[in-house]
Amino acid sequence: MIDDLEELQKRAEADIGAAKVEAELAAVRVKYLGRKGLLTQYLRNLGQLSIEEKQIRGKRANEIKNNLASKFEEAQAILTALKKETSFREEAIDVTLPGRRSGCGRIHPVTQILEEICTIFAGIGFSIVEGPEIENDYYNFEALNIPKDHPARDMQDTFYIDENIVLRTHTSPVQIRIMEKQQPPVKIISPGRVYRPDSDVSHTPMFHQVEGLLVDRGVTFGDLKGILTSFLKQIFGEDTVLRFRPSYFPFTEPSAEVDIRCVMCQGRGCRVCGQSGWLEILGSGMVDPAVFKNVGYDPEEFSGFAFGLGVERIAMLKYGISDIRLFFENEKRFLQQF
Ligand code: PHE
Repeated sequence: MIDDLEELQKRAEADIGAAKVEAELAAVRVKYLGRKGLLTQYLRNLGQLSIEEKQIRGKRANEIKNNLASKFEEAQAILTALKKETSFREEAIDVTLPGRRSGCGRIHPVTQILEEICTIFAGIGFSIVEGPEIENDYYNFEALNIPKDHPARDMQDTFYIDENIVLRTHTSPVQIRIMEKQQPPVKIISPGRVYRPDSDVSHTPMFHQVEGLLVDRGVTFGDLKGILTSFLKQIFGEDTVLRFRPSYFPFTEPSAEVDIRCVMCQGRGCRVCGQSGWLEILGSGMVDPAVFKNVGYDPEEFSGFAFGLGVERIAMLKYGISDIRLFFENEKRFLQQF
């Protein structure tokens, strides 16, 4: 049996030497010195032997036990040091590598155009005001001379929140809100988001408009023409050719849509202008007397003009972008071009 003991010591030492990580070493310790370990059992079984045998084998077994215990200690120290060294190596940071730059933001092209438009009008004395995007039916339609069930409602598909509350389909309700609050002269523009359930290459359910309104004594269609002509030349360039085309809006009379000579084909006709040579840019007209009556202005005393333009449309034409949805996909490579 003493042979077994020497054999046991040899195997234990071999196992200790083979353990490569702390967990393996812990398992070896349990195998030999644990409560049910091989050496522990050996010591327990000594009780059955004669006194002399017990003394000899017990002494040797305890020597081996102590010897193994210090072998475990040594091995443990080596493995701990090894582990530390590995983790130092793996977690090392090469401070000489070039850094990673964080992408720098830019002003969105739609915001850039919005700011350009606002700057031009602020320069000729227009104030900038804002109105709510969630609007009452009254301000979005009724007060603008678009009664319920009137066919003119079909001109603007609408997101209804309930029967009386809508996401505004245009910035024109701001005209009413301003005129209700103040007497002429009124000289404002109002930029902001508007909503219509539409989605294709030239429509998104949310887009931006800028509304303009000028009311005073003696305002004429000539003023409308002069201001819009000067504005469009500042946006699209001094050589821009434009035309005022008779149109219809329930809240202006007479009404005109303003077209510019196609910036892509210079009027020869192309895909962008639908072969017409002209691009529709904005809606405008002289404020309808019915609208003045709704806000308590005397149409005999005051006159005015209003206009509304789509900001994305201007950005698309100015930058030659053929799909409006690109503005809202937040693709960095697209946005970085502006
Ligand atoms: N609100 C009109 C639209 O969204 C544009 C417009 C504004 C027309 C002001 C005339 C006067 O189509």
